Amino acid sequence: MEEKDEKLMEKIISLCKRRGFVYPGSDIYGGLAGTYDYGPLGVSLKNNIKTLWWKKFVDSREDMYGVDAAIIMNSSVWKSSGHVDTFTEPLVECSKCHKRFREDHLKEKGKCDDCGGKTGETRLFNGMFKTQVGAVEDSSATVYLRPETAQGMFVNFKNIVDSFHPKLPFGMAQIGKAFRNEITPRDFIFRVREFEQMEIEYFIKPEGWENYFEYFKNEMLSWMESMGIDMSKVHELEVKTEDLAHYSKRTIDFEFDFPFGLKELYGLAYRTDFDLKNHNLIYQDEESNSKIIPHVVEPTFGVDRTVLALLLSSYKEDISGEEVRPYLAFKPEVAPVICAVSPLLKNKEELRNYARIVYRNLKDEFGRVMWDDNGNIGKRYRRQDEIGTPWCIVIDFDTLTDDSVTIRDRDTGKQERVKKEDIVSYIKERMN
Ligand code: GAP
Repeated sequence: MEEKDEKLMEKIISLCKRRGFVYPGSDIYGGLAGTYDYGPLGVSLKNNIKTLWWKKFVDSREDMYGVDAAIIMNSSVWKSSGHVDTFTEPLVECSKCHKRFREDHLKEKGKCDDCGGKTGETRLFNGMFKTQVGAVEDSSATVYLRPETAQGMFVNFKNIVDSFHPKLPFGMAQIGKAFRNEITPRDFIFRVREFEQMEIEYFIKPEGWENYFEYFKNEMLSWMESMGIDMSKVHELEVKTEDLAHYSKRTIDFEFDFPFGLKELYGLAYRTDFDLKNHNLIYQDEESNSKIIPHVVEPTFGVDRTVLALLLSSYKEDISGEEVRPYLAFKPEVAPVICAVSPLLKNKEELRNYARIVYRNLKDEFGRVMWDDNGNIGKRYRRQDEIGTPWCIVIDFDTLTDDSVTIRDRDTGKQERVKKEDIVSYIKERMN
């Protein structure tokens, strides 16, 4: 990683911890590699991402069925899906320091990244987390935490067909946790052992799958743009046949220029009839009056990688007076806090009382509203800029006579006076 890129990652990680976006998991006990905890601002950011995704891909459509399946699934699911046999990564161990690595992640083949020692022979390591259900610890009680949300949809395919009788093409969608026992979790929230996915399984007749593939490719691009992901950093990678996942006939990875390299952000796969066939699931097609196995186009999105791409796309610095001003230029729909409300002076009772009323009204309207009366007004603006709050609303002495407040824009620093009764519409007009 170049020095400037390393610095940028350091800044983002430190900002995330300091300001309550993302904390290292189990931190007071020395942490647990590959796990992170989201604080209030991180939760808010993730919730906004997930809500906007659900709105676009489920609620606004007529052909999408949402599910929320169990994380722990019968091990037969993973045998049928091919994950027990093929969800593996090449593992090597250093013969000197005994540290383990994913072979394809080594900086130099055959050489330990840490001590330079020789690495031993390659073994295949299954990335699924195993656990036991119930009180008996025998092999019949072995289950897996899902490594992808996708199978939770396939196993509910028949339920959806029986309950809703959808006609092809139609889709199922799910947002939820997935778990992978990554050999080398790294790069902050990019490669972790517990993460969230937003996935769609879109069921089609095989003829013309290319059109659906193209359609979802464009839908994915338009989603990224609408969220505020820097599109100049997004690149499409046609995955080579030899690198395709065991279920895929064609995959495009949407890669993002992360500071640690060009890496997968999202994926789009043509899974053919691989999954439904292996689960022995069929569909009665009314049109042809025959039983068919639908094919699947699967757009998949990682929530945590979206958070990281958004942080990196939004992080900006400019010069304000003598100082560098860091800010996150989040779109208002995505920002963890839509606006902050402050009395100009903390200890002036009239200003405080008035500001509390404005704050309460906005909180009832938007929810994501912060009260901030610490330090001087400049410091408050800085604090809000750093967490990406688009607007700061200040109640000053003029407010007491003319019922207007100042609204300051995060990106330009410009202030406008707005009547108290117009604040909500002012904000709504500027949100999509
Ligand atoms: N159902 C298909 C599937 O799971 P994948 O490419 O293995 O495909 C989908 O994963 C998405 O999940 C990735 O594009 C990425 O955004 C996210 N993802 C995968 N592994 C991850 C990890 N270890 N940490 C964070 N996100 C991950």
